[in-house]
Amino acid sequence: MLKLQALVALGVTLFSTISTSSGATTIVVNGTASHSIPPLLYGLMFESGDGGLYGELLQNRAFQQVTAGTAAALNAWHAVGSTTLNVVRDSTPVSASLPNSLQVTFPSGSGVGFSNEGFWGIKIDSSWTYTASLYYRFPTASADFSSQLTLGLKNAAGDVVASSSVPVQGSQTDWTQVKVTFTPSSSQGAAGNQFFVTLDNTSGSNQTINFAMLSLFPPTYKNRPNGMRIDVAESLVELGPSFFRFPGGNNLVKGQTAATRWQWNTTVGSLLDRPGRQGDWGYVNTDGFGILEYLEFFEDTNMEPIMAVWDGYALGGTAVPQAGLDPYIQQAKDQINFVIGDPATSAPAALRASLGHPEPFKLQYVEIGNEDNVGSAPSTVQYRWQTFVNSLSVEFPQLRFIATSATFNPRLTPNPTDYDVHVYQTPTWFAQNSFFYDGFARNGTQYFEGEYAATSTNPNAIFGSPAQGRLLWPTMQGAAGEAAFMTGFERNADIVFAASYAPLLQHVNSTQWTPNLISFDSGTVYRSTSYYVQKLFSLNRGDEYLPSTLPTPTGTIFWSVTRSISSGEIIFKVSNTVAAASDLTFQLPFDNVASSGSLEQITGALSDSNTPDQPTTVAPVTSTISTGQTFNFTAPGFSVSVIRVKAS
Ligand SMILES: *[C@@H]1O[C@H](CO)[C@@H](O)[C@H](O)[C@H]1NC(C)=O
Ligand SMILES: *[C@@H]1O[C@H](CO)[C@@H](O)[C@H](O)[C@H]1NC(C)=O
Ligand SMILES: *[C@@H]1O[C@H](CO)[C@@H](O)[C@H](O)[C@H]1NC(C)=O
Ligand SMILES: *[C@@H]1O[C@H](CO)[C@@H](O)[C@H](O)[C@H]1NC(C)=O
Ligand SMILES: *[C@@H]1O[C@H](CO)[C@@H](O)[C@H](O)[C@H]1NC(C)=O
Ligand SMILES: *[C@@H]1O[C@H](CO)[C@@H](O)[C@H](O)[C@H]1NC(C)=O
Ligand SMILES: *[C@@H]1O[C@H](CO)[C@@H](O)[C@H](O)[C@H]1NC(C)=O
Repeated sequence: MLKLQALVALGVTLFSTISTSSGATTIVVNGTASHSIPPLLYGLMFESGDGGLYGELLQNRAFQQVTAGTAAALNAWHAVGSTTLNVVRDSTPVSASLPNSLQVTFPSGSGVGFSNEGFWGIKIDSSWTYTASLYYRFPTASADFSSQLTLGLKNAAGDVVASSSVPVQGSQTDWTQVKVTFTPSSSQGAAGNQFFVTLDNTSGSNQTINFAMLSLFPPTYKNRPNGMRIDVAESLVELGPSFFRFPGGNNLVKGQTAATRWQWNTTVGSLLDRPGRQGDWGYVNTDGFGILEYLEFFEDTNMEPIMAVWDGYALGGTAVPQAGLDPYIQQAKDQINFVIGDPATSAPAALRASLGHPEPFKLQYVEIGNEDNVGSAPSTVQYRWQTFVNSLSVEFPQLRFIATSATFNPRLTPNPTDYDVHVYQTPTWFAQNSFFYDGFARNGTQYFEGEYAATSTNPNAIFGSPAQGRLLWPTMQGAAGEAAFMTGFERNADIVFAASYAPLLQHVNSTQWTPNLISFDSGTVYRSTSYYVQKLFSLNRGDEYLPSTLPTPTGTIFWSVTRSISSGEIIFKVSNTVAAASDLTFQLPFDNVASSGSLEQITGALSDSNTPDQPTTVAPVTSTISTGQTFNFTAPGFSVSVIRVKAS
């Protein structure tokens, strides 16, 4: 058995060596499209926004979901001077959803107070106006006391570079919000910078003040209040994505327990009414980036949501019994109605209208749970799917519901029209599975590749540790493997309607999973090799697929040919998944083919990555190449190329 495998492997190697050394591979293109490229083919998948896409600059801004009195409750907060800080469970909280406050006792002296380190730094940009706000009250009236609170930013050296003051009165025992704006005197990068609040009036010794819901916002993407961090949002928009899978995978749509699941109705309205939740990846989710913020962001960026609902199964392993599903189905209906319902007949839709969006949002696909087969008994998968889909499809016949268990295993009733398929694998697996979908029945069932990424070169460390070979950053080899797999999406786009790399975003100072498509720190965004592959494919997807000579499924070079009807261009995508260059000859069946075309390409060595230290090791290069009815193209080792040629 072992010997036979070795011989087969040797045979493959010999064959591919002979074929490349004996000359170019000829690719004959058929001018008759076999299928159109579906409008949602390339998009994004997302898990959580705090400290990343969500613009808020303060970490632990409202002491949500922490235990009062513990050191952990003070995460990211620090005393300035000999101030005493404590998170307390307030006898008169700022809101029912935010029971905790920061209680600060100010000693005598000036400039005493507290600071917040942000999400491992705070970007200070002198071209920005920041908005800072907080709620305060004196737990015990200090009737004669009056002073000023100064809110501002200081750099890593401790120099104040922005500040603004507001009066405070010791008689104020009810919660009062103060809000200031300031513009820094100079730009300061991000690392080590802090937001601070100090109390003036040196005779104000030993005043105790409670604070709640402190916030610091820079300008946001499209100036949305409570909006998105501009550079992160722009890095997403640059990919030209068509959809956004939200509110996420295991973090949002599972929760560790039913009680800690994401619930749409605790993420809407005033920030004071959002309790936040313990997320699955080790930190609290503020839910400041709530369902309406998501939906408005999608509208701002021409993305369509693919929205998931919680379906009775938590990551911790517990499934709700069939008889107990009704409240969760009702909540899923409410969530869907918040997005598309009629304010005249639906309370969640009326809530949406009251929040400023009477028109329904666009929605065609709803996912039932996430990775429903993982760790869950097949029997619960069946009844949960059936109970949810039967009920939801009566109320929303216009929607398509996506199953998230393994394809056809178990066989579900009713038969799913759509499946979400996830795969984390090696670069080589992706290259060797470019034909993954070619054998699937063409019988109406459609597929969403909702998560995929090359995570390790070691098959035993796909979900393992960096020590075992888990990749820290996407590599050129991984990106080329993913691109090979993606040529298979295009060839099979009659049944693959959408695909998204995962995970999308990573703060380099607090990372639960590697690699990620986009990395960032508090100041800068870093685009990976895989990012550029997503961008090349998304921006060059074309309108229809043109059949051509098939790549060798077990080979090393893969391609896909599409046509853009609007621009009259033929678009060739080529991925070379190994170090040796590969010579290709394209033959086009058109009378008029331009004598030159554009080439956009990324290439590098096997393990080349873009990192915070070396962010542009691999970056796309655009050039002009000679084309014609027949033209040659050499794909460099480990490269992904897109050629566009006008032809008719
Ligand atoms: C091109 O594709 C069409 C439609 O599938 C087919 O009928 C035709 O035979 C193909 N032409 C060539 C040259 O393969
Ligand atoms: C400082 O606070 C004291 C009471 O503690 C008050 O008498 C005094 O007027 C305040 N000074 C200023 C400048 O507000
Ligand atoms: C400060 O207040 C605490 C309790 O509120 C009290 O025990 C302490 O004596 C006070 N210190 C001064 C210097 O007034
Ligand atoms: C959210 O909705 C669920 C039921 O769907 C309900 O139990 C819960 O009280 C609601 N929470 C809030 C804050 O409205
Ligand atoms: C499509 O074919 C698969 C098997 O390849 C089968 O399991 C599935 O039920 C079929 N879908 C429909 C809608 O018939
Ligand atoms: C954040 O990560 C960068 C890169 O690894 C490192 O240089 C920096 O010291 C980290 N900052 C903090 C605050 O941990
Ligand atoms: C393509 O390359 C081959 C050699 O591999 C050469 O014979 C042929 O002339 C080239 N064709 C064009 C159009 O340059």
